[in-house]
Amino acid sequence: MISMQEVNPRVRGIRTPTSLQNLAACITKQITQGVKKPFMLVTDVSSGDPHRAGMAPISFFRQVLAVCLHPELLAETSLPQDVRQRAQILLGTCNGGSVGSYSLTSYGLPHVLKSVAEFIRRRDDGVTSHPEDIIFSNGSQKTLMLALHLMSSGEGETQTGMLTPKPCPHTLPMLMDETGVRLVPYQLTEERGWTVDVDQLHRALETARGRCAPRAIYICNPGNPTGHVQERATIEQVIRFAATEGLLLLAEEVQQDSVFGQDKEFVSYKKVLFEMGKEFSETVELISFHSISAACTGECGMRGGYMEVINMDPEVKKHLKTMQVSSSPAVLPQLALEVMVNPPAPGDCSYETYAQEVSHIRTTLSQNAQRACEFLNALPGMSCQPAMAGVFLYPCVHLPHRLVEEAKTLGVEADVLYCQKLLEEEGVCLGPGCENGQDDGNYHIRLCVLAPTAHLDEVLARVQAFHLRLRDTFP
Ligand SMILES: Cc1ncc(COP(=O)(O)O)c(C=O)c1O
Repeated sequence: MISMQEVNPRVRGIRTPTSLQNLAACITKQITQGVKKPFMLVTDVSSGDPHRAGMAPISFFRQVLAVCLHPELLAETSLPQDVRQRAQILLGTCNGGSVGSYSLTSYGLPHVLKSVAEFIRRRDDGVTSHPEDIIFSNGSQKTLMLALHLMSSGEGETQTGMLTPKPCPHTLPMLMDETGVRLVPYQLTEERGWTVDVDQLHRALETARGRCAPRAIYICNPGNPTGHVQERATIEQVIRFAATEGLLLLAEEVQQDSVFGQDKEFVSYKKVLFEMGKEFSETVELISFHSISAACTGECGMRGGYMEVINMDPEVKKHLKTMQVSSSPAVLPQLALEVMVNPPAPGDCSYETYAQEVSHIRTTLSQNAQRACEFLNALPGMSCQPAMAGVFLYPCVHLPHRLVEEAKTLGVEADVLYCQKLLEEEGVCLGPGCENGQDDGNYHIRLCVLAPTAHLDEVLARVQAFHLRLRDTFP
């Protein structure tokens, strides 16, 4: 067995998102060097990266970007006309007509910001959105990091704290740690499908006061890794809570295009805020985040995302907009974002193909999530809440006592050890439970279900074989 300390010697009790992925890379290298394993290759379904899991990109996005990169293709008649038209428009917005030039503003190309604002207005049934409130960066996590840097200050009792769901996206604790913002956990209610309970928000705030200075609340809707979609009533309650307590509201809405639960729909925090009347719409500070890594687009490697900043003091917003001034954001992901928020419309020559591809992704996601949930619930010692959106399932695993003891001896968390053994025995890389999401004896694992169905079936079969063997080994 390769020890986790070998993979990442700095960390004991490892729960970093990359440590298991590093172990997966070590095993893959061993296989290429001829080391015999009980599997041919490692499958990584630990992160929400659809293309890595084998999903195909959307043709229109890639065709437009291909022409932008190689403008000679503007004359290529085998490409759909709307592809070439869009590329021409986008090239016209780049400085010098080339994606190879810097974007002159530190917060994005004006044409792209305008398209984003129009998209938000359409999505939110006419609620106003202004390009000057949009800030682009190389990934929504980067924009979140800018916001965290902005509010980070103090130490001890005065250190900025942020109310954060438990469980939360696996990358969030690291971002907060890096920016010096203290994590103030509020528990989501698993048995009710991971809903937000306002009593828990009050409890978290009470506990935090005196230990740090809570200045913000982070909400993830649809939930990562829980797949929960918030009802409008909950959103209103959270907004009232933020207003009463004077908290900045950070709404991570990256998976807004991936809602598949019956009778569920995504409603943005911005829309609800503006429908609650001036008392709220003119006072509550809101930052909402979106990304080209979202489920249907899935362009995670391109690194593009934006935040929309509402009701922030103009001087503070100005500062936020210039925080990445020394490294203006990359141009190509901005163009990808423009295509995401402004896709082919009915009547355009790429529309049929685009609609079919999106429908295939949505159907795959919804069917996989349902089947995988049923499959996992049928395994002894596993229980999984059905997801309504997003790309993950987050089942609870009841781990054998002796495995928990072995983990203690090795100095790792028991769910991490479970994932490590699964990886070494079956070549499947799952994510362990979220760092702030564990109570003793209540472990979880994270599994991305946006993958080709045959691929996911193979993963589930291997998880089943391992899980049953583990229970035989540690009865
Ligand atoms: C909660 C959450 N945050 C952020 C992201 C994406 O981050 P980025 O835009 O930096 O790729 C995802 C991925 O889909 C996500 O689910």
